[in-house]
Amino acid sequence: MVGLTRVPGLLFGGDYNPEQWPEEVWAEDARLMAEAGVNLATVAVFSWSRLEPRQGEYDFGWLDRVLDLLHAHGVAADLATATATPPPWLVREHPDVMPVNADGVRLEFGSRQGYCPSSPVFREHLVRLTTAMATRYRNHPALVMWHIGNEYADHTLECFCPESARHFREWLTARYGDVDALNAAWGTSCWGQHYTAFAQIEPPRTAPGPVNPAQVLDWRRFCSDALLELFLAEKAVLRAITPFVPITTNFMSILHGLDYWKWSAALDVVSDDAYPDPADPESHVAVALSYDLMRSLKQQPWLLLESAPSAVSWREVNVPKPPGMMRLHSLQALAHGSDGVLFFQWRQAKYGPEKFHSALLPHGGTATRGWQDTLRLGQDLRKLGELAGAETKAQVAIVLDWESWWGLEAPESMPSNRLKLKDLLLAWYRPLHARGVAVDLAPPGRDLSGYRLVIVPNLYLCTDEQAEALAAFDGELIVGPFSGVVDAADQVHEGGAPGPLRDLLGIEVDEFWPLQDGVTQDTTAGPARTWAEWIRLVDAEPVASYEGGELHGRPAITRKGNVTYVSCLLDDVTPVLAPLLGGLDHVDVPEGVEAVRRGGHLFLLNHTTTRQQVTLPRPGTDLLTDTALHGDIELAPRDAVVLRIEGDK
Ligand code: GAL
Repeated sequence: MVGLTRVPGLLFGGDYNPEQWPEEVWAEDARLMAEAGVNLATVAVFSWSRLEPRQGEYDFGWLDRVLDLLHAHGVAADLATATATPPPWLVREHPDVMPVNADGVRLEFGSRQGYCPSSPVFREHLVRLTTAMATRYRNHPALVMWHIGNEYADHTLECFCPESARHFREWLTARYGDVDALNAAWGTSCWGQHYTAFAQIEPPRTAPGPVNPAQVLDWRRFCSDALLELFLAEKAVLRAITPFVPITTNFMSILHGLDYWKWSAALDVVSDDAYPDPADPESHVAVALSYDLMRSLKQQPWLLLESAPSAVSWREVNVPKPPGMMRLHSLQALAHGSDGVLFFQWRQAKYGPEKFHSALLPHGGTATRGWQDTLRLGQDLRKLGELAGAETKAQVAIVLDWESWWGLEAPESMPSNRLKLKDLLLAWYRPLHARGVAVDLAPPGRDLSGYRLVIVPNLYLCTDEQAEALAAFDGELIVGPFSGVVDAADQVHEGGAPGPLRDLLGIEVDEFWPLQDGVTQDTTAGPARTWAEWIRLVDAEPVASYEGGELHGRPAITRKGNVTYVSCLLDDVTPVLAPLLGGLDHVDVPEGVEAVRRGGHLFLLNHTTTRQQVTLPRPGTDLLTDTALHGDIELAPRDAVVLRIEGDK
């Protein structure tokens, strides 16, 4: 359960920006929310300039009335601390609150999230506003959750100003203690970068050539930590004043900039914003992966806090969701562990950059298709209340590590810049998803003993401790290419790859063999692209070999005990996976139908535009239609079944 104990069942609603509307409209909003079954609204995310129009002068009256009105209509508040965007008076009085980019340009006010994460002035004012908000609303009956900031790192992940430089040096001093330790870790003997004082170190601003990759890696760590520090400054205030109100901030699916393993430990409720592209027929697969990450972060249900009812307004071409897709995508989030479905936003904006973004209540009002979709979803969610809090059991885990990701996707100086971690994750996730196999994500250090199969698509940066944790796992383990290459300081392991994974894998990587775009390297397990390796066997057995080209006849896939190493990027990893899937829980479904177990329920989601037949593994009751089902069933295009499985819990 996401823990909003005062709101029973599943959560439904979205961002509500009443300050964009005359007060007469609010009554209609509240009435229509109640009609649709909305029970949660995210309020005041970008309201700082309206709540504190001048320094120290607060105007809470309008927000009081909004919260009272919502409460009177049975709508609880995910109340933002309103710190996502500083007000104009603050940035005009203190221009250095605004962030500076890598070229040294200070960004202008006029958008949102315009702040330097390290600015002490920003922090001081933010703590002041959060204190005022928490004090004002601590006892308001509508308040069920705090929403700190908004989508950290969406627009502002990093700032290169002198204040950020000072903060970075402080962070480096805490990490390394003395500058010689930093010199050793950063390998500053290369290209004449030996430092004699921390004061000489700056953020990796635009430089004449490639910047030291170890410096860039530490910068990535620092940027994630600096924003987290900002979040924690607010959290401390809220905890002190409202100790029992859960705290969240909305994540952005699988985001490169922030280490969500570290971040999620600081949240009470993991929440996510997901915007799969309706124009991409495969987008439901990538979004399922990100939902599984959200569930895995705290190994408990999470909350889809933002999604689009139809089109967004920030792609180059913003395709709407065709009939049925909004409902189907909402059910998909529930299937993967969300305890509700919320949207951006409640009422479609009349002005500003998001006036063409869809909303639960479109410009055309209650006569629109969109509004009918809103009503229908509200009705469906009421039928699914028993899902709230249900857990998912997965027998397969995919390992994901942010530090390794940052190293792998260093901006320069890699064997190939075509290796993208999200692609590598999806290559393994896609066939598992297609077979209805439940998957968790896991950080490399987590105890993996509950799983039958663990896949490490890539672990470019691998520490000895991580290698030991993988070696301690006694199920089936698959390790992908370019793993075990560097240590935590981005220095190549003694003897080269796979470094600390050498004994486990039983191979040596002689040379990386990246492939040019468009080049296919055949193997006996199917074609590979982008990446291959010249490997030598130590005590592993070859399972598949390269065919043709310079690598002809050399091992491509190897096995030692229960450990498989795949040295290339196969177009289709099914030949590697298939022999390991026997005995794993799964549901046979036709292509384009997604089968997901959650607690004692089975979701069958037809993502295709044609009718599909599925044989139910067990009889049960479809909660959406309240119908008993067994044997072969038909799913209409973009339709779904949520089966309460008979005799299951
Ligand atoms: C999110 C953001 C919302 C809104 C939405 C539009 O990134 O948190 O405020 O802008 O996108 O899709």
